[in-house]
Amino acid sequence: MQFSYVNPTQIHFGQGQIKAIASAIPTEQKVLVIYGGGSIKRNGVYDQVSQALTNHQWTEFSGVEPNPTKETLDKAVAIVKEQGIDFILAVGGGSVIDGSKYVAAAAKYQGDGWDIMVGKHHVTSAVPLAAILTLPATGSESNMGAVITKAETHDKLPFMTPHVQPKFAVMDPDVMKTLPEKQLINGLVDAWVHVCEQYLTVQHGAMVQDGYAETLLKNLKTLADQFEQRDSDQWRANLMWTANQALNGLIGAGVAQDWATHMIGHEFTALWGVDHARSLAIVQPSLLRNQFAVKKAKLEQMGLNVFGLEPSDNLAEETIKAIEAFYQSLGVDVQFSGYEGDKQHAVDSVINQLEQHGMVALGENQAIDLNQSRKILELAIA
Ligand code: NZQ
Ligand code: ZN
Repeated sequence: MQFSYVNPTQIHFGQGQIKAIASAIPTEQKVLVIYGGGSIKRNGVYDQVSQALTNHQWTEFSGVEPNPTKETLDKAVAIVKEQGIDFILAVGGGSVIDGSKYVAAAAKYQGDGWDIMVGKHHVTSAVPLAAILTLPATGSESNMGAVITKAETHDKLPFMTPHVQPKFAVMDPDVMKTLPEKQLINGLVDAWVHVCEQYLTVQHGAMVQDGYAETLLKNLKTLADQFEQRDSDQWRANLMWTANQALNGLIGAGVAQDWATHMIGHEFTALWGVDHARSLAIVQPSLLRNQFAVKKAKLEQMGLNVFGLEPSDNLAEETIKAIEAFYQSLGVDVQFSGYEGDKQHAVDSVINQLEQHGMVALGENQAIDLNQSRKILELAIA
């Protein structure tokens, strides 16, 4: 184990916390509030934000779409540059927060913001930003990552820099009351896979990282089993906090990480618009079967400690089946059939995308080359 770890995002958690932004953002700063398609206008979050910013000078940018695009976000970049914005407040789910991170970094750069995504520009500064989370899933509210799409070319790429880590995040579980069931399920699944990407690798004996990862997985399993209680304060608060902890850097510190499911899943979203979480449930079981030999010990550990399975020769495979059953219990597909034309063409399309994006050595051992990805896709695509 060897790592440097800090998570500098201050968390304001609990009901009524949106008003904390009044003092968390210095009043002399000119604020740009960025949000999505308008859910915050319908559920009272926008009103709470306006109320809290009474003593600030602020303006707004709306219309950030799910799987946020560079094309839309560049309009916000122009506003930040033209109006001398000092602080960005993202109000939404992962898409709005990720999009705001792109805006924050691109606004400090004279060239095309997409250069950040392709590694042509190295981010050295960003406009300070914070988040009011409305959809627990991605962990974006307190991490340094973002995933942005270029609609023109169907590219969906991640970038990471400490400069876009939110200064603070407001997490009021009450905002979840208006979430469609589908988005609650996406949140459970995305957070689940985030833990798996940092846990289902090799046996490394890091007791804190493994033990906490197992706790988070058990929480998500329990919340899925208790899905009929989703209208309770306790259920909402537990999902919100669990999803945050799943990707705030802690359980991944100093241990191997995978992320191949995410990188392959992103291509399903870029090509066919599959919801992020659902792309992961499509890829992961097949990927685990493909990487069975190297992941066997950890799958067995997960079977025992998360699912409470009995030791047996088939334990690792039983664990993969239990993961599939977890997704299916939520009505989430574990294979993809939403393509047009024949299966071979669908597989080839994903492979082409992976190749173009340099995703040719994925996973904790960089062992998933295009040949392995092809085998995974043959299983994952129906
Ligand atoms: O746009 P609005 O009107 O706000 O509607 C949104 C959107 O349609 C709606 N919604 C959000 N909060 C709501 C609400 N509707 C009613 N009530 C509320 N309280 O939900 C829809 C989906 O929102 P979105 O932000 O797209 O979902 P999510 O949070 O799942 O974010 C997905 C994006 O995050 C990226 C994904 O790739 C995807 O682009 N990820 C970011 C990560 C990170 N930064 O660390 C890691 C993840 O692995 C992921 O890749
Ligand atoms: Zn994810």
